Amino acid sequence: MERTTDKIRLGIIGCGGMASSHAKGYEELAGRMQVTATCDIELERAQEAATYYGAQLAVADYHELLDHVDAVLVVLPHDLHYEVGMTCLRAGKHVLMEKPMGNSEQECIDLIELSEQVGRVFMIAYPVRHHPLMVKMKELIDDKTYGDVFQMSIYTEQYTRYYDGHWALDSKRLGGGQFFSHGCHYVDILLWVLGNPVRGTHLGTNYGTPWMEREGTSNMTMEFENGALGMHLGTWGARGTRLGSSMHVHCTKGMLELVFSERRLYLHHKLDEERAGIKQGEVELLMEVEEGGKFTHHEIHHFLDCVQYGQRPLTDGPGSLQGLRCIWRMYDAERNHVMADLRGLGLEQDWRQVPLGSGSESRA
Ligand SMILES: NC(=O)c1ccc[n+]([C@@H]2O[C@H](COP(=O)([O-])OP(=O)(O)OC[C@H]3O[C@@H](n4cnc5c(N)ncnc54)[C@H](O)[C@@H]3O)[C@@H](O)[C@H]2O)c1
Repeated sequence: MERTTDKIRLGIIGCGGMASSHAKGYEELAGRMQVTATCDIELERAQEAATYYGAQLAVADYHELLDHVDAVLVVLPHDLHYEVGMTCLRAGKHVLMEKPMGNSEQECIDLIELSEQVGRVFMIAYPVRHHPLMVKMKELIDDKTYGDVFQMSIYTEQYTRYYDGHWALDSKRLGGGQFFSHGCHYVDILLWVLGNPVRGTHLGTNYGTPWMEREGTSNMTMEFENGALGMHLGTWGARGTRLGSSMHVHCTKGMLELVFSERRLYLHHKLDEERAGIKQGEVELLMEVEEGGKFTHHEIHHFLDCVQYGQRPLTDGPGSLQGLRCIWRMYDAERNHVMADLRGLGLEQDWRQVPLGSGSESRA
């Protein structure tokens, strides 16, 4: 197939559920990239996606698209991230890898090192970081507009039930449970917002989500160097919800509340000390976005900036590895009935200084 475009040519590998979410923002990216090839082991899915994107090639074996793309978006079951990521990097492709990067620490290290050797962009897809409400909230936090953050609580109450035979029901393929698969977004966010972690705990259960081999419900708390606490309470078993997917950031002058389902960022403040608990303070709407969804096109814009202008991805391999190391250490600590030591695992800390195997439960 002849090269027919000057735009960045993207191949999509894996055309299942998450690939459909990526499709939503495609129009906004069409000026700078073109999906030239799609792949799914179920060829029909690849063909449907190719029709949607106007891609010329749809294949069932990802090796066959490598000559027709500059970059790939890997949207595959977690146990395939490593093999496919390594092959694409070796072929000189830039890689946007769906989270989590890999199922073991050694896999992640190999991917990071290879991306450095071949000089290609290797970014992990954590779209929450690029959501406009999150971006606004991070600016307000960094500017200390409402003082210092001392507690960030993240709630994700979902009903996520995979059908029989789905890869995500197998904890080896998933790489863990809900905490690893979904909580990785929020460990990433907590490190980004609150800085270097010190210690943490995780408790998970599959009570209420018997379809999960490992935990379907997960409660995690981390303490950070400055004394702030961060937590993620997540479940894939919610039969009802009010909190949905939301964040509460308690600052010394008010509480920021981000409600993804309402597409809004609020400020709660002026709580009357005497009447706290009886009467709420004042609520201000700080920002609202018109459309719902995951805004994955914002993260793809960032990926394209990295490819085009040589920028370092906000969610690069080393940073993402630090987040996964936190999770693996908390899983280990949970098994051993102790608190996890998370020192040395901040985003800015040298990922190479962490001894291999510390905290990685699925050592390669
Ligand atoms: N960021 C988010 O909000 C979010 C949400 C859901 C999933 N994800 C991530 O997206 C990735 C995919 O998850 P999903 O929910 O789309 O799974 P899925 O099962 O819906 O889709 C995976 C697709 O990969 C295909 N596939 C399997 N083996 C293949 C192979 N060897 N070659 C080519 N295609 C193959 C399957 O046929 C399927 O269509 C995972 O990393 C997951 O964690 C991210």
